[in-house]
Amino acid sequence: MIRKLYLSDIEVVNKYLKNFNYELTKETLNREFLNVIVYEENGIKGVLVYSLIYDRIEIDYIVVDKNYRRLGIATKLLKYIETNDVKNITLEVRESNIPAIRFYEKNGFIKSAIRKNYYKDENGILMIKSLVNNMKDTYILGIESSCDETSVSIVKNGCDEIATVILSQMDTHSNYGGVVPEIASRMHVENITMVIEECLNKAKMSMEDVDAIAVTYGPGLIGCLLIGCSVASTLSYIYNKPLVPVHHIAGHIYANNLVSKMEFPLIALVVSGGHTDLIYMEEDYKFKKIGGTLDDAVGECYDKVARVINVPYPGGPLVDKLSYEGSDTYKLPIPLDDNTYNFSFSGIKSAVINLVNNESNKGNEIRKEDIACSFQNRVVEILTKKTMKALKEYNVENLLIAGGVSANSGIRKKFTEICNKQGIKLTIPNIKYCTDNAAMIAAAGYFAYKKGIRADLDLKASATTSLF
Ligand code: KG4
Ligand code: ZN
Repeated sequence: MIRKLYLSDIEVVNKYLKNFNYELTKETLNREFLNVIVYEENGIKGVLVYSLIYDRIEIDYIVVDKNYRRLGIATKLLKYIETNDVKNITLEVRESNIPAIRFYEKNGFIKSAIRKNYYKDENGILMIKSLVNNMKDTYILGIESSCDETSVSIVKNGCDEIATVILSQMDTHSNYGGVVPEIASRMHVENITMVIEECLNKAKMSMEDVDAIAVTYGPGLIGCLLIGCSVASTLSYIYNKPLVPVHHIAGHIYANNLVSKMEFPLIALVVSGGHTDLIYMEEDYKFKKIGGTLDDAVGECYDKVARVINVPYPGGPLVDKLSYEGSDTYKLPIPLDDNTYNFSFSGIKSAVINLVNNESNKGNEIRKEDIACSFQNRVVEILTKKTMKALKEYNVENLLIAGGVSANSGIRKKFTEICNKQGIKLTIPNIKYCTDNAAMIAAAGYFAYKKGIRADLDLKASATTSLF
C-alpha cells in the first residue's frame, strides 16, 4: 500500500535517504511544499520525496529497497502522485545514469534540458512529464449522514450525477414528532454499508473506479456524523483513496452545480433547518459570509410554527402546502427589516405562539391556513428583500438558493419572479436535492478535492463547525 509518511517512519526512511546525504526531520517535514509518500509491504520498501508547488511536482528522491527492485514499486509511487490537479512532474537525473533515464522515459517522461554541472562533477538532465492532456474524468463518492438521511452518491467532475441513494428515516422519527439522535445514529450504522453497495451497483462501478471519498464532517448530530466519517475513513484506508472532508453547508450550495455550472461572483442564500446565511463567493470553494440569522434558522422557525398550529412533523413542507389554502389575514411582524444582511425570526415565531394562545384563551378558533399563509408571506418578503439588496450592493448577477427550505414553493416562486424581472441568473436545486443528500456532498467534494483539501484517517466529526 502507498500512504503518506507518518512521523514514526522517519528513522526507517532516513536509512533509505542516507545515500543522498539527505535527512528528513520534523522541521523539514513542515516545509510548505514538501511531501513524502512510502510504499509499505511488511515494512517500508520504497520512498518518494517530492515538492508539490501548486499544480507542479518536483521529484526530489525516489528510492526502493534493493531486495524489492524490478517489482514496479517505483512506478506505483510515480503513478500515485499523478492526480488530476497536477499539470506536470519534473526531476533531475545524472547524465550517466542511463538505467534511470530509461526508467523515467518508460514512465512517460521526456528529456527537456541539460543542467550544466548540476551535480558538481556531472551534468544533470531535466526530465518532464506533462499531464495536461491527461485530464481524465474525476469520480467522487459522497457520503452524507449528518441528520436523518443515510445517503451515498457518485458524481462525475462535480456536475454529473451518476447514481444516488437516499434512505430517509423520516417515517421512524415522525412517530416521535422530530429526529431522535440516538435512533438516527443506530439506523445509519444499520444501513450505511447497504446504501454504499446499492449506489455502486446503480452506478455500475466499483470502489476502484472512484477517485476520492468525500464525507460530511459537520455540522450536524454528532453521533450521526461519526458514522459517516468512520465509514469514509475506513474506505479511504482499504481502497487507498484520498479522503475529502466536506462542510454540510458547502454541500447544500454545490447542489446547485448539479443543475447548472455555478458562475462567479455569486450570492448564495442558504436556508435550512440549522442555517440562514447570505454568502458571497468570488470563486469556487471560497465562502464569505455577509449576513446570517441572529437567532432561529428559517427551517427551525417553520417547524416550530407547525407545532404551534398542530401540523405534524415534518412541519416545513406541510406549512408550505397549507399556506395555499389560506389568505394573508393575520398581522404578523416583519422580521428584522433593517439595513443589514442579518435575519431574525424569533419575533415572528413568538408572535405566532402568542396569537394562537390568545385566540384559544378567548375561545376563538384559529385559522391554520391563514396563519400559514401570513407567516410564509412575511418570511418570503424579508428573504427576497435582503437577498436582492445584497445582489445589488455587491454588483452580482448570479444567485443560488440552497438548503432544505429552498424546497419551499413560496420562496421558489417569488425569487423566480423577481430574478426574471431584474435579469439575475437564479439557480435552485431540484426539489429532491434541496434537503440532505450525498450528491451535493460529492459535488462539493470534487471542488474541495481540486483545491487539495484532504483529511487524515483520524478525521474528526464536528457538531458545530463553521464554514467561514
Ligand atoms: O437542509 P435540511 O434537509 O436539513 C438541515 O441541514 O437543516 O433542511 C431541513 C429543513 C427542515 O426545517 C424542514 O422543515 C425544512 O427544511 N423544509 C421546508 C420545506 N421543505 C423542507 N421548509 C419550508 N417549506 C418547505 N417546502
Ligand atoms: Zn442540510
